[in-house]
Amino acid sequence: MTKQILLSTPHMGDLEQKFVQEAFDTNWIAPVGPHVDAFEQEFCQVVGAKHAAAVSSGTAALHLALELAGIQPGDEVFCSTLTFIASASPITYLKAKPVFIDSDRTTWNIDPNLLREALEKRAKLGKLPKAVVIVHLYGQSADIDPILAACSEYEVPLIEDAAESLGATYKGKSPGIFGKIGIFSFNGNKIITTSGGGMLVSDDENIVKRARFLATQARDNAPHYQHSVVGYNYRLSNVLAGIGRGQLRVLEDRVNARRHNCEVYQEALGKLPGIEFMPEADFGRSTRWLTCLTIDPAAFGVDREQVRLTLAKQQIEARPVWKPLHLQPVFAECECIGGAIAEDLFDRGLCLPSGSNLTAEDLQRVTQAIAEIYTG
Ligand SMILES: Cc1ncc(COP(=O)(O)O)c(C=O)c1O
Repeated sequence: MTKQILLSTPHMGDLEQKFVQEAFDTNWIAPVGPHVDAFEQEFCQVVGAKHAAAVSSGTAALHLALELAGIQPGDEVFCSTLTFIASASPITYLKAKPVFIDSDRTTWNIDPNLLREALEKRAKLGKLPKAVVIVHLYGQSADIDPILAACSEYEVPLIEDAAESLGATYKGKSPGIFGKIGIFSFNGNKIITTSGGGMLVSDDENIVKRARFLATQARDNAPHYQHSVVGYNYRLSNVLAGIGRGQLRVLEDRVNARRHNCEVYQEALGKLPGIEFMPEADFGRSTRWLTCLTIDPAAFGVDREQVRLTLAKQQIEARPVWKPLHLQPVFAECECIGGAIAEDLFDRGLCLPSGSNLTAEDLQRVTQAIAEIYTG
């Protein structure tokens, strides 16, 4: 039977089981414990953040981030449109309204000029958004400096969704640590995983303390159970934090492996007419969490969807680039500023198998299958 090649699968190192065993041996089987504390500290060192709170998912982290940024029902929040729904769904948990912003072609991330123009227009109308959520997509940082400058000028807090970009750099630093709050994900498909999990980071200690408080049912400091506000059950398990500690130690290897995948794909397919890889911006390092490309059907002969289906028949999983959120039925009523670039990237964009555990034979199978589609 032909082996299935999946998009992005977990890849454990040597130490995860030891840390998990430690949790069992000490009976710290709870959403609190020494691995959670150590994971937070070690994560801070890796990304260069001052404080971090480990939580049950990236979505939970973003929900807390928005609440901590003071988002209230009816508020507007600017958000990248080319992304996974979890970048925007927490906006709606708070009964606020997302306003989507298009990407730029060079990074596929939010267009800093469009963002500045939109903030300028809104400032004139006296209708500034309450926060801006930017996404660092597919392992590549957005162009943070002009985004941060625009947000600072209009005094709108910046929240960074770096769920897909742990290990990336922007001018030598990790995305996720520039804004008021940043979030990361350890979902099973991410560059490192705890099966499910997330991290909220900030340089403001009070924000992170408050995140931990809200994530543990917002229990007041009293001998009995007392609550002055409603919180969530969002903390990361000590068992899973053990996996995270092991995974953090192999992050660099995982980045190198994913970048290697992309190099192999570029070498084998980069010269085929109509194929263009997601560019790597010159301001930093993309992890190539997923290797993404666009297919011009006029030059390549068939379109993205035909390529995807042909690969699927050969047990190779490839996926369309994110469907922009402004095209999602659930957000049909939401405003979008621009949108044509994200729509084009969705129409023509494909994510190739990108796991750090792909073998040379796997990569060869994928490149050969695509090359054969071209030559017919
Ligand atoms: C851009 C983006 N934001 C947020 C999330 C949510 O993270 P989680 O699955 O850990 O809730 C994901 C991935 O799952 C993502 O890709």
